[in-house]
Amino acid sequence: MKAGAPYPVLTPEEAIGYIKNGDTVAFSGFTPAGAAKIVPATLAAHARKVHAKGEEFKIRVLTGASSSPQIEEDLAEADAISWRAPYQSGRVLRQHINQQKVEYVDMHLSHVPQTVASGFFGKVNMAVIEASEITADGRVFLTTSIGASPTFLRCAEKVIIEINRHQSPRLREMADISVMPPPPRRYPIMINDPLCRNGWPYAIVDPAKVIGIVETCEPDTIAGFAPPDEVSEKIAQNVIDFLLSEMRSGKIPKSIYPLQAGVGNVANAVLAGLGTHPHIPPFFMYSEVFQNAMVELMEDGKLLGASATSLTVTPDKLKQIVDNMDFFSRHIVMRSQEFSNHPGVIRRLGVIALNTILEADIYGNANSSHVMGSNIVNGIGGSGEFTRNSWLSFLMTPSVAKDGKISSIVPMVPHVDNNEHSLQVLVTEQGLADLRGLGPMARARTIIDKCAHPMYRDYLKRYVGESGRGHIPHDLTRCFELYNNFAKYGTMLPDNP
Ligand code: COA
Repeated sequence: MKAGAPYPVLTPEEAIGYIKNGDTVAFSGFTPAGAAKIVPATLAAHARKVHAKGEEFKIRVLTGASSSPQIEEDLAEADAISWRAPYQSGRVLRQHINQQKVEYVDMHLSHVPQTVASGFFGKVNMAVIEASEITADGRVFLTTSIGASPTFLRCAEKVIIEINRHQSPRLREMADISVMPPPPRRYPIMINDPLCRNGWPYAIVDPAKVIGIVETCEPDTIAGFAPPDEVSEKIAQNVIDFLLSEMRSGKIPKSIYPLQAGVGNVANAVLAGLGTHPHIPPFFMYSEVFQNAMVELMEDGKLLGASATSLTVTPDKLKQIVDNMDFFSRHIVMRSQEFSNHPGVIRRLGVIALNTILEADIYGNANSSHVMGSNIVNGIGGSGEFTRNSWLSFLMTPSVAKDGKISSIVPMVPHVDNNEHSLQVLVTEQGLADLRGLGPMARARTIIDKCAHPMYRDYLKRYVGESGRGHIPHDLTRCFELYNNFAKYGTMLPDNP
């Protein structure tokens, strides 16, 4: 049967006629991969026209994680978003959130499907899902991401399918889709190897809910990474040296456990470093996002297989994958985010997690999301799930930001998203602090000596020494002094040259 044959083909303008002011709209996509494109772009243009007439038009936007520029930039610029979950990384949207024009729910990504299914977000009025095909009986073949789309398709009141002719129908060969039933009837998840499959290559929708399909032919908009700088390379080297010493001491088997790598330039540099190191054995990944660097690693036999929820790769890399699908479909499994980020599976597989933060405090609480405690950058994403549940979790950051005016190691972070109970190993370009088994005072000494920039070490040591007693000594009159200095003088240590 021809793709989408029994469903009306709508123009984007006709399709958006079904979306009303105040609706909650769930868009496909995890990162820009597989994200809805033409419908949100048309919706943004529509919102501008409505606003020009002095009328209100804003929607509540749900996605799998961050999303396409049509959602994060166009819709946001058109002032058409009132509420957003669960993650974002858009310049304009970020501004609107920090100006409190958009209400933002920053949440663990594996929670999204069950939160939607249980109705905690209220009704999902419309799902707009990119697919390569929808069949008459409601099988939806997704494209470069799975994310939360299977749940959006089940739970939304109405559905629009964006059939994207640019996306290869063969992408379905990597998909392994299932939806967890609600408690207390949940079943054991049969993933005991990163490449285990136990679902279907398609998601399911009730055909009666599909109001139509919209045809498009647009690639995912995915930018490449900057080449690793000296600081990222040093951080990578510190991680690699530590992993090698753990393997030598037998704490990690010689065959190494599956790796996870988060977003950001540092995580990408670490992955590239691990992939090319002669003494790191070929490895598997159990991660969220399949990124550019992994394509070559897989072709070279260094990456043996990967589980992810999106193929967040630049168009040239996607072509490389599609052109060699017989090979890649045997080595990549794409799952829904409730499985790719599932705490139980992460724990079961003994994942080694590598994520990037903005800053950490001397006791090991970390902040990856809010600059100066207030302004969101992206969100927690999957880092909480992987940092807490992995066999070994690394959080990484350059020791200073803004040319040294900001220390990334501080007495107390003003926002915590990964806390001292989850963090095991903290890494900067200065060194690596293995915090396992250390109490707060030993943690503070190790973090200051190994991770803080030399410019800030004396200050931090004095802070600990002068903060009195208690299990975790703090001077609440001074714990944010560095931030107050930065606000006042534009640098955290104004007395330093
Ligand atoms: N205080 C204030 N600003 C800081 C800072 C600090 N301690 N550390 C970094 N910054 C600034 C940088 O200067 C930069 O500012 P600019 O955009 O004005 O240049 C900005 O924050 C981003 O830093 P950068 O080093 O370019 O970021 P990155 O690309 O390495 O990403 C995170 C770092 C933390 C933003 C990113 O990894 C993230 O969003 N992590 C949380 C989500 C996550 O881990 N997801 C994956 C889980 S699977």
